[in-house]
Amino acid sequence: MIAYLDNAASTAPLPEVIEAMARTMRDHFANPSSLHSLGAAAARALTTAREQVAALLHAEPGDVIFTGSGTEANALGLLGAARASRLRHVVVSAIEHAAVFSSARRLADDGWQVDEVAPGRDGCLTAEAVLAAVKPETAVVAVMLVNNEIGTLQPAADIALALRALGRRIHFHVDAVQAAGLVRLDARTMGAHSIAISAHKLHGPKGIGALWLGKGRRLAPLYGGGGQERDLRSGTENLPACVGFGVAATAALADTAAAQRVRALRDRLESLVFAGTRLATPTVHPTTPRAPHIASLLLPGLPAEPVLHALESRGIFASEGAACSTHSREPSRVMRALAVPASTGALRFSLSRLTSAAEIERAARGLVDALAEIDRAVRPGR
Ligand SMILES: Cc1ncc(COP(=O)(O)O)c(C=O)c1O
Repeated sequence: MIAYLDNAASTAPLPEVIEAMARTMRDHFANPSSLHSLGAAAARALTTAREQVAALLHAEPGDVIFTGSGTEANALGLLGAARASRLRHVVVSAIEHAAVFSSARRLADDGWQVDEVAPGRDGCLTAEAVLAAVKPETAVVAVMLVNNEIGTLQPAADIALALRALGRRIHFHVDAVQAAGLVRLDARTMGAHSIAISAHKLHGPKGIGALWLGKGRRLAPLYGGGGQERDLRSGTENLPACVGFGVAATAALADTAAAQRVRALRDRLESLVFAGTRLATPTVHPTTPRAPHIASLLLPGLPAEPVLHALESRGIFASEGAACSTHSREPSRVMRALAVPASTGALRFSLSRLTSAAEIERAARGLVDALAEIDRAVRPGR
C-alpha cells in the first residue's frame, strides 16, 4: 500500500469518471456544434456536464465557461477582464499561484500597473490590505480562495464586500482551484465576478477547467476562433473531459461529510507528526483559517528534498512547496511572504476526500522515521 498525499498537485480520477469519459469518446465523438442528430446528442452531453459543474458552484449553467485548465480559467478571468476594461491597474495577492501571477506579469509587460498585496505572517490577506492597494484606475482585483502551498483560506467574501462598497465597476476574480470539492463554493454569495476551478483537483480529469462568469461582466477572449463557449473560449469542446468534470463535480457535491472527514485526518496527521518529532514545525498557527486538506510543515535547518526521497522509499508521496512550480528552483514566493528563511525546507501533505486513515498513520510514522534518519546523517553524534 502507498500513501498518496499529493492531492493538491493532482487527484486520481474516480472510476466512474474514467468510465463516463471512455463512453463519451466512443458514443459522442461527433462535434457538439454539428446540426445532425449525433451532434445534438453530443451537445446534450455537454449541457449535462455544464449543469453538473454549475451545481458545484451553486450557479446557473449558462454562466459556466469550460476552459483547458485551471490555469486558463484564471488567465481568462484576469487577462480577459483587464483587457475588456479601459482602466490600466490590477491588484493581485503576493501569494497567488503562477496561473494568476504570470498573467499579472504579462499585463505589467503590456503596460498595466500591477500591485501585489502581501499577506500577514499567518498567510492570510485582509480586506483592508486589499482595499488599500485599490486606486481610481483599478480594473481587476484577483485573489485566491485557498493557497496551494500552505492551505490558508483567504477572505474572498469580505474583499468582495469592501470592493462593492466603493461603488465602482472593479472586476473581482477568485482562483478557487484549490477550494473546489472541499470548501463550499457559492457563486451567488461569494461576491466574485469570476471564479476559476479545475477538474483534476477533485478526482476529475486533467486538462479541463471552468470559469464562472457573473451576469453582465465582460471579458476579452484570450484568442478567437469558432465562437464556442459564448465566444469566450473558442475551440471544439473537449467533451470527454467536460463529461468527466461533471461526474467528478456531482460526486464531490454528494459527499457532504468530506470536509469534516478530511479535516479530522489532516489534524490527526499533524498531531502525530508534532508529537513524534521536533524537527518539523507547523508553517502557520493551527487556528489560522485553513482549507481542510493541506498540511504544510517547516523543517528548520533541513532541506525538503532528501526528506521527500526518504518518504518515497517508504511508499509515501508528498511534495515540496507547490508541485506546480517545481520547474523553477526559485524560493517559493509564499514562503518569502511568510519570512521563512531559505535554509528551512517546507513539506506539503495534501489529502483528498478519498484519503484513508491508514494512509495518514503510515505517512505520520514514515515522516517521523525519515526525519530521525536524516537528522542522524546530517548531525552525527547527536
Ligand atoms: C491555486 C491554484 N490555481 C491554479 C492552478 C492551476 O490549475 P491547472 O493545473 O488546472 O492548470 C493550481 C494548480 O495547482 C492551483 O493550485
